[in-house]
This record gives sequence, structure tokens and C-alpha cells, in this order.
Amino acid sequence: MTQQSLAPILVTGGTGRTGGRQARRLLDRRIPGIDGSRREGAPFYWHDSGTWPRALDGASAAYLCYSPDLALPGASLVIARFVESAAEAGVQRLVLLSGRGEDGARAAERSVQGPRLLTLNDVAAELSAATGRRIEFLPCSGGEFGTDLANDGVPGTAGTGMWAAPAKAVLR
Ligand SMILES: NC(=O)c1ccc[n+]([C@@H]2O[C@H](COP(=O)([O-])OP(=O)(O)OC[C@H]3O[C@@H](n4cnc5c(N)ncnc54)[C@H](OP(=O)(O)O)[C@@H]3O)[C@@H](O)[C@H]2O)c1
Repeated sequence: MTQQSLAPILVTGGTGRTGGRQARRLLDRRIPGIDGSRREGAPFYWHDSGTWPRALDGASAAYLCYSPDLALPGASLVIARFVESAAEAGVQRLVLLSGRGEDGARAAERSVQGPRLLTLNDVAAELSAATGRRIEFLPCSGGEFGTDLANDGVPGTAGTGMWAAPAKAVLR
């Protein structure tokens, strides 16, 4: 493991479903993590930029799990400002949790992605190359996506049709 890979990684939403998994994986691999949530340590608030510098201090990379939701008005602006702060702090890599395709979510993705646009198939190919595992992007219907969420224990989501452009990544 290189010295650079031992630099801390900021996990926003580290007490939540996806961030919690990232935090546990970092722990397993003995990579230092910085918690970015309101409950742990020094609190991190998406809507209080005064709490960002501590979270970004020394971080080499960051996992961005925005709350309450990327699709809400103003979210992409917060993400754009956060990306700017992260770049100024020297963070080299950002990963944004997104993928439902609403306008607001896409605007936030562009803030993180910069000028190189990637389709979800491109992302799957890049992930396959980096991990050595075959990862495919399979589109699924809103109903299927709702069922997946329900199976994951998210209440009231099965078959609601509220997911306009769902995405699904499959590991092989
Ligand atoms: N639109 C899209 O394309 C798209 C796609 C995928 C996911 N998402 C969004 O991603 C999130 C789901 O991720 P998840 O399931 O991993 O999270 P989750 O289990 O819902 O947990 C949310 C996490 O964010 C933290 N948090 C909540 N409000 C916060 C705030 N104002 N400032 C800072 N941290 C805050 C919580 O910790 P504390 O309570 O300790 O602060 C918790 O760790 C949802 O917002 C979902 O809508 C959007």
C-alpha cells in the first residue's frame, strides 16, 4: 500500500446506509477515515460550510452522500461549493452517490465530474478495469427499483413508480 493510499478518506453520511459500509471497509483495510455526519466527532453539516474545513483537512479523497436529497432545489449549488472547497483543500478524488437522473442530481453530478462526461456503461467499464471484477450497468424499471429498495428495508417504496430513471450496477 502506498503512502498516498494511507491518507485519510472523508466519508460523508458515514453513519448512514451507504456511508456506513464505506466506513467499515476503510476500517477493515486500516485506511484512516474521517467521519462527515452530524452525530460523530466534530459535526459536519452540508448546509454549514463552516463545518467543511475540519472534515476536509488532510483528506486525499471523499465519498459524497448528500442529504436530504440531490434532487432538491439548491443541492447542486451546495455540491458545487463543496467540490471547490475540496479542491482547494487538496482532495484528489471525489465519489458522489447519485444516479436517479433528476435534473438536480444531474447538475450535482456535473459539478463533481467536470468536463468529461461518462455514461453509466462507461462508469461500469472503469470500475471493472480498476477492480478486476466484471461490473455491468443494467437498466431496470421504476417498479423493479422500488422492489429493490423495499428488499433493502426502505419503507413504502415498492411499486410506487416514484423513481423516474433508476439505475442498477451488478457485480460479477
Ligand atoms: N437523486 C439521486 O440520484 C440519488 C441517488 C442515490 C442516493 N441519493 C441520496 O443519497 C442519500 C441516501 O444515502 P444513504 O442511504 O447512504 O443515507 P442514509 O442512510 O439516509 O443516511 C444519511 C446520512 O447522512 C447524514 N446526514 C443527514 N443529514 C445531514 C446533513 N444535513 N448534513 C450532514 N450529514 C447529514 C446522516 O448522519 P447524521 O444523522 O449523523 O448526520 C447519515 O449518515 C439520500 O439523500 C438519497 O436521496 C440520491
